[in-house]
Amino acid sequence: VTQPLAQPLLTGVADFPVPVPPAQPGPARVVAVCNQKGGVGKTTTTINIGAALADDGFRVLVVDFDPQAALSVGLGVDAHNLERSIYHVLMDRSTTIEDVLQPTPVAGLDLVPASIDLSAAELLLVNEVAREHALARALAPVQPDYDVVLVDCQPSLGLLTVNALTAAHGVLVPLESEFFALRGVALLQDTIDRVRDRLNETLVLEGLVLTRFDGRTVHSRQVHERLVEAYGDAVLTTTIARTIRFPEASVQGLPITMHAPTSPAAEAYRRLARELAARWATA
Ligand SMILES: Nc1ncnc2c1ncn2[C@@H]1O[C@H](COP(=O)(O)OP(=O)(O)OP(=O)(O)O)[C@@H](O)[C@H]1O
Ligand SMILES: [Mg+2]
Repeated sequence: VTQPLAQPLLTGVADFPVPVPPAQPGPARVVAVCNQKGGVGKTTTTINIGAALADDGFRVLVVDFDPQAALSVGLGVDAHNLERSIYHVLMDRSTTIEDVLQPTPVAGLDLVPASIDLSAAELLLVNEVAREHALARALAPVQPDYDVVLVDCQPSLGLLTVNALTAAHGVLVPLESEFFALRGVALLQDTIDRVRDRLNETLVLEGLVLTRFDGRTVHSRQVHERLVEAYGDAVLTTTIARTIRFPEASVQGLPITMHAPTSPAAEAYRRLARELAARWATA
C-alpha cells in the first residue's frame, strides 16, 4: 500500500516562528521524554531537540536518565569511564549536579551523563524517604541556569521514570508510526495521570510526536489521523521521518543538526523544537 502523495502531509503544515529565548535564563522548563516502549526515538529526540533549541539561543541541559547511557554516548561521552554521573547525584549527598554536568559539542547545550550504575539506583531509591522526588531535588540547584531541561527516560515505567515525571512540567512522548504504538500510549497516559494525582499536580502532556514516519505510506498517515482522533491538539504536527541518518549521527557522537545540518532530518527536529517553543510561548 505504498502510494506516493502529491504533497507531503503533516510536516510543514505550518512553519513555526524563530523563538525568542528569554534575556535571562531560567527557571527552566523541565520536559521528560518518555515512552515505556524501547527504540521509539526518545534519545534521538532528546539530543536533537536539545541541539536545535540551543542553536536557537536557549540554554539547554539534557539529562541522561537511562542506565544504557545512549544519550551520553550519542553526545560523544565515554560512559564506561565516568568517575561520577547522575547516579552519584542521586545517591551520594556530597555530589551535586554541578559536579557532573559537562559541555557538549553544541554551544549552549550541557549534559548530565549516566552510566550503568544508574540501574542500581532504582532498587536503592526504593528505601529512601521521598524516593519519587530524588531527581527534582537534584535538578533544583541548576533550574535558574537553563531555559529548558530535557530528561531522557529509560524504556520502563519504573521508579526512575516516575522520578522524571515528578520533576517535569511536561511529558514529550515519541512514538513509532505504527498502529500497535497507540496501545502503549494509553498505558503511559495512565502513569502520567497517577503521577499527576499523587506527586505532581501541574504535570502536562507536552505532546506526542510520531517518529520513523513514512509520508509515502497510507499506513503512517492513518496512524497520525487515529492519534489525532484520540489525543487532539496533543499530537504535534511535526513528524520525524525514518532515515539512516540518525544511526549514522549517533555513531559520530553528534546531533543530526551537526552531523548533517542541511538534511531533512535536521530540518524536522528544528521544526519540532520550534513547535514546542511556540507552545511554551503561549502557555
Ligand atoms: N526517525 C528515525 N529513523 C530511523 N532510525 C531512527 C529514527 N529515530 C531513531 N532511530 C534509530 O533507532 C534506534 C533507537 O532510537 P533511540 O535510541 O532514539 O530510541 P529510544 O526510544 O531512546 O530507545 P531506548 O528505549 O532503548 O532508550 C537508534 O539506532 C536510532 O539511531
Ligand atoms: Mg533511549
